[in-house]
Parts: sequence; C-alpha cells; structure tokens
Amino acid sequence: MLLFECDVWTVDPLHPDPEIIARAAAILRQGRLVAFPTETVYGLGANALDPLAVSRIFGAKGRPARNPVIVHVAKPEQAIPLASSWPKAAQQLAERFWPGPLTLVVPRSALIPDLVTAGGPTVALRCPAHPVALALIEAAGMPIAAPSANRSSEISPTLASHVFRSIGDRIDVILDGGPTPSGIESTVLDLSTDIPRLLRPGPIAPDLLESIIGPIQRVVQVTSGVPLPSPGLLARHYAPRTLLDCWSSREEMATRVRDLLASGQRLGVIVPQSLGITSSSLKEVLLPPDPVGYAAGLYQALHDLDTAKLDRLVGWLPPETDAWLGVRDRLLRAATL
Ligand code: TXA
Ligand code: MG
Repeated sequence: MLLFECDVWTVDPLHPDPEIIARAAAILRQGRLVAFPTETVYGLGANALDPLAVSRIFGAKGRPARNPVIVHVAKPEQAIPLASSWPKAAQQLAERFWPGPLTLVVPRSALIPDLVTAGGPTVALRCPAHPVALALIEAAGMPIAAPSANRSSEISPTLASHVFRSIGDRIDVILDGGPTPSGIESTVLDLSTDIPRLLRPGPIAPDLLESIIGPIQRVVQVTSGVPLPSPGLLARHYAPRTLLDCWSSREEMATRVRDLLASGQRLGVIVPQSLGITSSSLKEVLLPPDPVGYAAGLYQALHDLDTAKLDRLVGWLPPETDAWLGVRDRLLRAATL
C-alpha cells in the first residue's frame, strides 16, 4: 500500500478542460510537480526557472544530478531567451518540426538554473506536440522542465497508470490524457558542436534532419569509463526488470524461444509477426511492422510483459536503418545480452 497517493485528473487529450489545466498550472507555479502527457511519453513537470522545484524532480525520480533535463516551451519564441545563441539550424529545425518530438541542445542563457543543465554550458529545449502539454505550459506562463515521469533508468511511461505505479507516491498530480501517441522519447540533437550530433535517436529520423540542415553525426554507443556527452547514452537505460534479449533473425529467435520453453521458462515475446509457437508458457505481443507503429506500442508491451511475472522476455531487433534507429536503440538499451 502506498502511504501517499497523488491525484489523477482525467483530461481530454485533444480538448483539455481549461479549468483542470489552470489547477495543474497553479500547482506548477507553487514549485510542485505535475506529470502530464506529451506526444512521446509522460513527462514529470516543474517550473524550469525555479531550482527548488527542479530539485524535486531529481528527488522523485531518484535521478543522478549529473543527468540534465529537457526544458519544454509552448512556442519557439519562448525558447530563444533560454539560449545564449540561437543557431540558424535551430531556427530551421524549430520551424519545420516544432511542436514535435525533437529536442535541440543549444548554449544556455543565464535564465536557466544549473541543476537543469547538470552544471553544463548547454540546455536541451523542446516544444511538445500534445494539446495537454501545450495548454499546461501556456497556462503556467513559464518553461517547464520535464524528464520522463518514471523512476530513473526504468522504462518511460506511455500511460498515466505507468506513472502512477512508478512515482505516484512522490508527486502531486498526474494529468491522465490516455496513451501517448509516439511512444518513445524525442530525438535529441546537439547543435552546440561544429557538426550537429544526434545524442538520442527518436521519432524524427536522422535523414529527415539532414534534409533540412545537412550532415549530422550519428550517435556513438558509449561504453563505461568514457565521459558521456549525454547520459541518455548510458548503455543500460530504459530497462524492464525481467531479462530481455533481442534477435534480428526470426529463425534464431524461434529456436531461442523453443529452447527456453523446453527448459521450463515462462516467456514474453515482442514481434511484428507471430512466431507460430503455441504454449501456455508463452505470451506473445504483436506490434505493427512499421517503425511508427512499433514505437507507439513498444513501451506498453514492455510494461505489460514486465508485470506479468515471466522469467524472460525475447524481442525482435529491427534493422539498422535510419527509420528504425529509435526503436532499435531503445531495445538495445533495454536488453541484457
Ligand atoms: O520525449 C521526451 O524527450 C520526454 C518528454 C517528457 O518530453 N522527455 C525525456 O526526458 O525523455 P529525459 O530526461 O528522460 O531524457 C532527456 C535526455 C537525456 O538523455 C539527457 O541526458 C538529455 O536529454 N539531455 C538533457 N539536457 C541535455 C544537455 N544539455 N546536453 C546533452 N543532453 C541533454
Ligand atoms: Mg527518461
């Protein structure tokens, strides 16, 4: 039993009730925490300009202070004073993709507290494409710092119930706007370097970014011991509790599943097409065979299987193409090969 439970307020995802939004915005203005849906995953919001409020985010998530948070704005003009310089590429990308699942890392201005950037010289900015998020930021009248609304290193929440289960005893309110449409976290692009660097692949594929601003550097898998350009690059992040392994070949995956079943294990499988294996010890989740559909359902599948008391999860690993990069990245981080 939780000793404390936050309030959960249901909102229409397309036309949120202004009265509920105003109440949530008032809580943010008091320096307290509100979880809200974005088009990617649920965020845990606090006033980005108030260090005490931002420190509550780190407390609720158990997040290390070296991991900076994304600042959310209601429109591009609200981002500009938060940056000490606003590169041409930022302007071009904001015009094309905001509101949307793209986070831009730019030099920070003096308005941004140290805690938001983990003391670093840059700030990550994003304008989310979700009516509830936009209405909340607008009503609060301030930029909102918001990491994903889960305990540090767990799978991000795509439903209000995921937020409740993970941190419902540590925050003030959850705005429940139903499932988040994109399903994986935003693409993070660093514009503070000579050549823009993709720090986290996401719903907006790198080739699409390149069609607007020219070449970008693809993400480098960071191994331990090397300083991290972005903590989102930690190898094991976004992970379920149940062990997960991933396979790009359908045949090898089917063999693995048969072997595990034969050894008496109860399994969860995430695939775009049924493996055709029948067993009462097998729970199979089918996701749409395209990158957008797969991303939309992936975290919910991981959450569901992770709470189904299984011994092991087995997932299909998509190809290393630009379109699949975000899904592939999350699966590799969630996997424990
Ligand atoms: O879709 C999203 O981006 C969601 C929703 C809520 O907006 N937010 C999210 O936040 O995923 P979080 O904190 O879970 O992930 C933020 C990522 C981390 O990988 C963090 O290291 C990176 O952005 N990041 C934040 N500020 C940065 C900075 N100044 N430089 C480099 N990376 C930064
Ligand atoms: Mg996160």
